[in-house]
Amino acid sequence: MTNELFDLTGQTALVTGASRGLGQHFGRALAKSGADLILTSRKLADLAPFVAEIETLGRRCLPLELDVRDQASIEAMAAAAEAAVGQIHILVNNAGCNVRKPALDVTWDDWNLILDTNLRGTFFVAQQIARRMVPHHYGRIINIGSVTSVFGYASLAPYGASRGGVRQLTMSLADDWGKHGITVNCLAPGWFRTEQNKVLYDNKEWVEYLVDRIPVKRPGQAHDLDGAVVFLASESSRYITGQTLLVDGGISTGSTRATVPPPSGVKA
Ligand SMILES: NC(=O)c1ccc[n+]([C@@H]2O[C@H](COP(=O)([O-])OP(=O)(O)OC[C@H]3O[C@@H](n4cnc5c(N)ncnc54)[C@H](OP(=O)(O)O)[C@@H]3O)[C@@H](O)[C@H]2O)c1
Repeated sequence: MTNELFDLTGQTALVTGASRGLGQHFGRALAKSGADLILTSRKLADLAPFVAEIETLGRRCLPLELDVRDQASIEAMAAAAEAAVGQIHILVNNAGCNVRKPALDVTWDDWNLILDTNLRGTFFVAQQIARRMVPHHYGRIINIGSVTSVFGYASLAPYGASRGGVRQLTMSLADDWGKHGITVNCLAPGWFRTEQNKVLYDNKEWVEYLVDRIPVKRPGQAHDLDGAVVFLASESSRYITGQTLLVDGGISTGSTRATVPPPSGVKA
């Protein structure tokens, strides 16, 4: 039963932004569940070590170049992927970037970089791959969102707008493409330690502040996302579409204290 529901053997998953960070974790989890992979980066050379790792698992792994800010690059990547494998069963739309700045300091170029990458890129990659899923009447699209898809944070205005957009886009695409056998969901991680969040995690005070607000009382570790990505990629999620699944230790409960901490020595 477990195998049938979560087994991805014989399927191909395309993961964008797999040169480092969460993209590699998503790819590894899908490969361990049986999927062959197509991985993308703006620099092919940056994929080489991870491709080798996936191949040691006995899976096929095709590296492709992709810049999600470039329409021709998206079209070329999708055509090359289809030519190589025929059917693409799963897309993890993970490529993304961030610029952390107080809203008063955000520039026109900051805005364009973040929105073009995280929102426009997500849409046009999904569109190119969905066009190729339609003839097979099957597909699982997983757009990567964030807690900022549902919450507002200072210094993350354009990023939050892009991630809120990804959540909304997910609902619209689910409605559009459900009739073609394609589910579209949004996997929204909390605050995980990667290159993108390194500057935060290097600050001990910030980590203490974060952990204090996470109901399960620890930061996310990348393998905390494994079950969610395999679930959304697999047969087990067949009747779930348009949803945003937050994997965040509960921080999206809005866990600000509603009581004053008790004086020291007094048990709550
Ligand atoms: N870390 C977290 O806590 C967290 C939480 C919620 C959501 N997210 C989102 O999850 C995704 C992965 O996060 P991460 O922390 O692993 O980030 P990361 O370490 O910065 O990696 C980002 C990936 O996106 C790719 N990328 C960036 N710009 C691109 C472009 N224009 N075209 C194609 N690929 C591009 C990069 O590939 P190349 O540079 O090799 O091209 C890289 O592989 C991002 O979308 C991020 O916003 C992260």
